[in-house]
Amino acid sequence: MNRAPLIFLGIFFCVAFSWTGIVLTNHLGYAKLQPVFDETEGKAFPQQLPGNAQRGKEVYRDLGCVYCHTQQVRHPGYGTDIERGWGERGSVARDYIHEKRVYLGTMRTGPDLRNVGARFAGEGGRNWHIQHFYNPAEVSKITVDGVEYGSIMPPYRFLFETRPVIGEPSAHSVQHLLPPKDQPPAGHEIVLTQRGEDLIAYLLALKDPALYPEEAKRVYVPKAEPAKEEKKEAAK
Ligand code: HEC
Repeated sequence: MNRAPLIFLGIFFCVAFSWTGIVLTNHLGYAKLQPVFDETEGKAFPQQLPGNAQRGKEVYRDLGCVYCHTQQVRHPGYGTDIERGWGERGSVARDYIHEKRVYLGTMRTGPDLRNVGARFAGEGGRNWHIQHFYNPAEVSKITVDGVEYGSIMPPYRFLFETRPVIGEPSAHSVQHLLPPKDQPPAGHEIVLTQRGEDLIAYLLALKDPALYPEEAKRVYVPKAEPAKEEKKEAAK
């Protein structure tokens, strides 16, 4: 008996079924999402990343930051992201509409970075990132049971360059931000490379707008933990 048509039909339905589930339903659900114009700000959100931050995003990809950091704030009820200060609200699909590649990430070895630009902003934020990339273990410490541990994030010193001062020292040198043990030899200075500048521009720009009007209803106060008795009741 010739089973070719049956096999063909089987394969066809498998592919059609997966395509409908994975491609078509998502396309219908999300492809038409548009930026929202905010009257008071006079701008449409989400905003495009500025050019240097776009380049910084490539550095972020290249260096594999995504292996340890996510970029998706979980909604209340799905985790404690908001209590931890990782965002004012959970992430929604509209936040990502300008992004060709989205670095949601899968592992949270470090904090979520979706709104890191709100936590570290401006000149102070830039300085912190410089110190942190140079020496994470010195900058971020936690104490557990009286023992102090330094960050396990690897240092990224190759984002800096130690070079001899020729003529005037650079206005952008960064060694004054670093501890005495990391000072360059006499007559030298430490500057960020272009990749380092771009990566920091990206981190400073990573910030989702407060809220899109029609999603206001999504913000809800997390449910109070049910008392132990109630939990037991529910389990029965
Ligand atoms: C091996 C895992 C690992 C990798 C890879 C990694 N990080 Fe981290 N990162 C951490 C951990 C753990 C912390 C928390 C402790 C600390 O502040 O250093 C952290 C903290 C941070 C923070 C501070 C966030 C906050 O809110 O306090 C930033 C910013 C950051 N990382 C950026 C990056 C960037 C950019 C890269 C890629 C160049 C990167 N990380 C790669 C583990 C990692």
